Amino acid sequence: MPDRAAIVTGASSGIGLAVARMLAEEGHALTLNSRRPERLEPVVADLRAAGHDVQGVPGNVADEAVVQAVVAAHRDRHGRLDVLVNNAGVGAGEPIHELTTKKLDLQLGANLRHIPLFYREAHDLLVAAGAEHGNALVVNTSSISGKRGEAWLSVYSATKHAVVGFTQAMNKELGARYVKSCALCPAFVDTPMTDFVKGAVPPEKMITTADIAEMVRALLRLSPGCTVPEIVFEQTGFEIGQSL
Ligand SMILES: NC(=O)c1ccc[n+]([C@@H]2O[C@H](COP(=O)([O-])OP(=O)(O)OC[C@H]3O[C@@H](n4cnc5c(N)ncnc54)[C@H](OP(=O)(O)O)[C@@H]3O)[C@@H](O)[C@H]2O)c1
Repeated sequence: MPDRAAIVTGASSGIGLAVARMLAEEGHALTLNSRRPERLEPVVADLRAAGHDVQGVPGNVADEAVVQAVVAAHRDRHGRLDVLVNNAGVGAGEPIHELTTKKLDLQLGANLRHIPLFYREAHDLLVAAGAEHGNALVVNTSSISGKRGEAWLSVYSATKHAVVGFTQAMNKELGARYVKSCALCPAFVDTPMTDFVKGAVPPEKMITTADIAEMVRALLRLSPGCTVPEIVFEQTGFEIGQSL
């Protein structure tokens, strides 16, 4: 069994990829998930080539069976879970008077529904890690839109507020067993998700994926008595009416 192991969803790109690389550097065996196998496989191959113990389990986390398969594959291969990163998500903006049920359900499924399911499926592994070293960690990627609602991104904002609230609830429910949860709440991060806005917001003025990974790295180092329930990342000196 490895000394430390982690699951990262949405790991083929952007924030999830940066956090997965950091966790590998920090000695974690990994199980990585994202929907498209053709984008996940090169990430797994790269990390393996660098000597890390990594497997990929592709699939849409909106499907409960995929959540179960990711955790089951992780349990079979690695046997322990110290860090769970619930990062998969999509933004699909539209004005409320044109709301489509398809985009509503897409965002509820991709941004929210899988998070409680991952906690349920991984509960015993996380509690065991908390009992062993006092710092089992669940990172849930919310957004600055989880702190202040955004026009056009109303459903996205609602799902991300729910992630913050759910994270708070998990700290109350599982904190005493040293399973600590943190919601990440960034403004624009330079990833493919923000390509649509890069004409108006220069990528060099965005938060970097390395910024996010470094803050998660710091969470790994906390003493058992300390929980950081959320981290808000703002763009320096940059005001814009809308963010993801
Ligand atoms: N970039 C920003 O400015 C920003 C700001 C605040 C919060 N966030 C949040 O950060 C998270 C990561 O976003 P990112 O910016 O890194 O975007 P990204 O580069 O587009 O990466 C998104 C990742 O999630 C995967 N994914 C999407 N839907 C999925 C699903 N239903 N099941 C499994 N995997 C899924 C994608 O791969 P596949 O498409 O192949 O599945 C990809 O690996 C999201 O939750 C997003 O809401 C982003």
